[in-house]
Amino acid sequence: MSSEAILKFPPGFLWGTATSPTQVEGHIENEWTHFTAPDGGHCRIACDHYHRYPEDVDWMAQLGLNAYRFGLEWSRLQTAPFAPLNPAELARYVDLLDRLQAKGITPMVVLHHFSNPPWITAAGGWTNPATIPAFVDFVRQLVAALKDRVYLWNTFNEPDTYACVAYLLGGFPPQRKWKLGQFRKVISHMARAHVQASRIIRREGVVAGRKPEVGIAKNWTFFHAYHRFSPWDRLTALACHYTFNKFVLDAFLGGGRGRASTFIGLNYYGRVRFHHFRAMIPASGTPVKTLKDFGFVCDDMVERYPEGFGKILPYLHRKFHLPVYLTEHGAASNDEAFRERDLRGNLAALHRAMQAGVAVRGFFYWSLLDNFEWQFGYTKKFGLLAVDFSDPALPRSRKPLAGVYAEIARANGLRL
Ligand code: FCB
Repeated sequence: MSSEAILKFPPGFLWGTATSPTQVEGHIENEWTHFTAPDGGHCRIACDHYHRYPEDVDWMAQLGLNAYRFGLEWSRLQTAPFAPLNPAELARYVDLLDRLQAKGITPMVVLHHFSNPPWITAAGGWTNPATIPAFVDFVRQLVAALKDRVYLWNTFNEPDTYACVAYLLGGFPPQRKWKLGQFRKVISHMARAHVQASRIIRREGVVAGRKPEVGIAKNWTFFHAYHRFSPWDRLTALACHYTFNKFVLDAFLGGGRGRASTFIGLNYYGRVRFHHFRAMIPASGTPVKTLKDFGFVCDDMVERYPEGFGKILPYLHRKFHLPVYLTEHGAASNDEAFRERDLRGNLAALHRAMQAGVAVRGFFYWSLLDNFEWQFGYTKKFGLLAVDFSDPALPRSRKPLAGVYAEIARANGLRL
């Protein structure tokens, strides 16, 4: 019977959600603390996950999820380069890890997600090569402290997005524009830090024969021209592809550097098409409705392009021969029926790519909670759970998509 048809995922597949410290924790001292988005939103309280993580872990368990990808905030854990880790803050993360373990939820920890301690920012952030040994020291101490509880390590989240939006587009602190030299420096310093940190994780993070896994999370966006024959739009798309996809992948995984990682984390949302040099996406200011008239299907951020899974996954597989985790995928919209269609379409495409031979080990929905979406403040609703930001108690509630995702995770498959 067709109602029984199900696209099964491999046994042990991870079904999780993802968050990042600045977007959910609140009470944070990094370069985002005094940043205010155009909607007036800031990260100073966010979802107060800092205090409410026990409740959030309970939500994950209720949804039947078996994985959680979250960040360890550097600015909480060290007050100066090479300083010992702050014991109280470390204990809080240990408690989070223990609660996850008690519920059978596998943690994947992220070591850098768009934020730095103030003393790193003051010294030039990742444009300064001195940030590399400081970060590597932070990682070495974390591995010693957490290796019993963590085996999935994600060093850098979307270095391409970070370097682009902070140094080319001016959207993230330090809000520089068109500093291509700084963009390149940030990428190559992060890539060196990734290789060094990965070696430490793999050497020092082994516990009772269990080998740690390590990788970056690369944001992959397809850049295309709206009119196939428009040379300028094609050139723009090609320049973006080279700068944000090719250059970044080569920096982290090219040559011998590929041997440092054991997996590739892929953050995949969709594509950007260019029309008269303009990026035709809601995130660049073109309304979803206008884009619909052009025949584009978009969430509140980018164009949806599920068939992209069938291109990017085989490409990564051919090039690097590493297993993949879908470290982020999700849609921002207030239209839950759209989000459900979108999730089903994307998972079906992911499943097809896996059938064709690409090893994918897990999928992390972005995001557990509606949260502080960087330069967009609180206007983009990615959560499986809604947060009522008008109520100081910040109550969470389940959105329809949470039920859909829970059913997929429980079945370890997508019912057709
Ligand atoms: C990714 C980021 C994540 C969030 C989602 C929507 O680029 O890693 O923090 O902003 O997009």
